[in-house]
Amino acid sequence: MAQVTVILVMLIVIFFQHHTLFSTSLASGQPDVVDELALHNVLWITKNESRVILSWSNNLTREETEKYTVEYILSYKFFNTTHEKEERLQRKKKIIRMELHSGFNAKVKTQLFAKETEDVIKESDWTEFTYKAPPVYIQNLSCIIYNISFFNCTWHIKAEAPEDIQILFSYRHVGKDFECQQYIKNARKKNIGCHMKEICFQPSRKINLNITVRALRNNSRMLSYYKSFIPQAIEKLNPPINISVSLENRSIKIHWKPPPAIGSASSKCFLYQVNITDHKIVDVTAEKYEYPFHKPAKKCAAQVRVKKEVCIANKVWSEWSEPVFIHNEMTVDVKLISLTLSCLLIFLGGLLICACRRYRCLEVITMPVPHPSDNIKAWLAADETYHQKQMHWQMEIHSEVTLGTPEENGDKNAEQQRCLKESGLEDL
Ligand SMILES: *[C@@H]1O[C@H](CO)[C@@H](O)[C@H](O)[C@H]1NC(C)=O
Ligand SMILES: *[C@@H]1O[C@H](CO)[C@@H](O)[C@H](O)[C@H]1NC(C)=O
Ligand SMILES: *[C@@H]1O[C@H](CO)[C@@H](O)[C@H](O)[C@H]1NC(C)=O
Ligand SMILES: *[C@@H]1O[C@H](CO)[C@@H](O)[C@H](O)[C@H]1NC(C)=O
Ligand SMILES: *[C@@H]1O[C@H](CO)[C@@H](O)[C@H](O)[C@H]1NC(C)=O
Ligand SMILES: *[C@@H]1O[C@H](CO)[C@@H](O)[C@H](O)[C@H]1NC(C)=O
Ligand SMILES: *[C@@H]1O[C@H](CO)[C@@H](O)[C@H](O)[C@H]1NC(C)=O
Ligand SMILES: *[C@@H]1O[C@H](CO)[C@@H](O)[C@H](O)[C@H]1NC(C)=O
Ligand SMILES: *[C@@H]1O[C@H](CO)[C@@H](O)[C@H](O)[C@H]1NC(C)=O
Repeated sequence: MAQVTVILVMLIVIFFQHHTLFSTSLASGQPDVVDELALHNVLWITKNESRVILSWSNNLTREETEKYTVEYILSYKFFNTTHEKEERLQRKKKIIRMELHSGFNAKVKTQLFAKETEDVIKESDWTEFTYKAPPVYIQNLSCIIYNISFFNCTWHIKAEAPEDIQILFSYRHVGKDFECQQYIKNARKKNIGCHMKEICFQPSRKINLNITVRALRNNSRMLSYYKSFIPQAIEKLNPPINISVSLENRSIKIHWKPPPAIGSASSKCFLYQVNITDHKIVDVTAEKYEYPFHKPAKKCAAQVRVKKEVCIANKVWSEWSEPVFIHNEMTVDVKLISLTLSCLLIFLGGLLICACRRYRCLEVITMPVPHPSDNIKAWLAADETYHQKQMHWQMEIHSEVTLGTPEENGDKNAEQQRCLKESGLEDL
């Protein structure tokens, strides 16, 4: 008999659970009720511009709340995101900032612990809640503070946004409201970004953005989205300054200074990266870097970039600094050698030109002169005699070549070499 009663009670409980689950509308803000082990949660929300306040209560008796420790497990996930946040709370409410999210799924569970042993005495089932926000027409909002006082924000307008809207940007910082100074517009004249300069930021005070989508035909219809952050979190620093490179004892020593920044300039806030040509980028926390230098590269440049890491989590790296070139003995040697080589080449080239002019290698150029002057005639005459010598010499060469391995293009090279050789001998 007792067994039958238990089964009956269980069936009733199951029916009751299902009934409450399906009879309450999850999305409309109506309370949702789930019951387990006589623990009964109720969830509801209150809306307040930028945020949704999720609250819950249960029907624990006063006696129970005094006797046990009561805790709530809240778990929520914004639509179209993968990350589920879970928190253990003692309060019976949670403020959820919607920013640009179009809604969330949340669930709450109540747990009762024995005060001394911390054993779970009672636990409710999950009570679920779905919140659907008014339509959100913008996405991919991204803001950056750079060069200390410049502030840029950009966003995309979703494809489903109505055609007759405009987007307004403003923010509140240290109790003051600021309108956008200069909108960035797309081809259809919609605002898709805002550029501001000469802004004075307080490092520890929040910037509260207000992005309002307004219907052009009905000014009273608008939707506002809010997002807040502290300036340091979105700051892109200027590259490190005063970079100097020296080469000592076959190692490169690079020194630099941090750039000016909003907020703390404590040296332990900064993380640097050093990039030396043909080497892996290295992370450095000091304001210097020493690198043993075994095989000097032909041309070696060093660059440094910076972001804040320790004092504040910041994902934005500065630009790389202008490259500083590393000079060493080897590069000087290479320069000297190349200088000597080019001098030699110019000298030899000069000789070649002289020789060619003299021995009619450049016949084509000298030919078209209509009335050769006496001078040239004399030159040509001198050439006649030389040509004979040349023929004689060429025959010698030929006999030599036939003795050795025959080469097809050997003639041309030999001619040039000879041109050089003979003129050189004559001049000396
Ligand atoms: C809480 O409410 C449920 C359902 O209404 C009920 O079954 C349960 O007995 C109540 N618990 C307490 C402690 O009042
Ligand atoms: C975002 O999530 C909602 C509710 O889960 C869904 O209706 C919608 O299609 C999703 N949108 C995208 C772009 O995935
Ligand atoms: C903009 O955001 C959507 C989802 O929020 C993402 O799928 C898309 O890749 C983003 N586009 C760009 C250009 O970042
Ligand atoms: C950075 O700021 C300084 C001082 O405000 C200004 O003179 C300089 O032009 C700015 N640099 C850039 C690249 O905007
Ligand atoms: C900020 O916006 C201005 C105006 O569109 C642009 O010239 C500048 O390059 C932007 N700077 C950064 C760092 O995005
Ligand atoms: C946000 O901006 C809109 C349009 O400028 C304004 O009507 C609204 O009051 C602002 N919201 C807040 C909280 O200041
Ligand atoms: C303008 O928008 C408001 C608020 O949504 C609405 O009450 C009103 O009827 C609209 N007026 C027109 C002319 O569409
Ligand atoms: C950087 O170099 C300049 C000029 O050499 C000097 O005036 C300045 O004090 C240096 N800055 C730092 C932080 O050392
Ligand atoms: C270079 O190395 C030598 C010995 O290895 C050392 O005595 C000297 O102090 C070093 N010089 C510098 C500038 O580090």
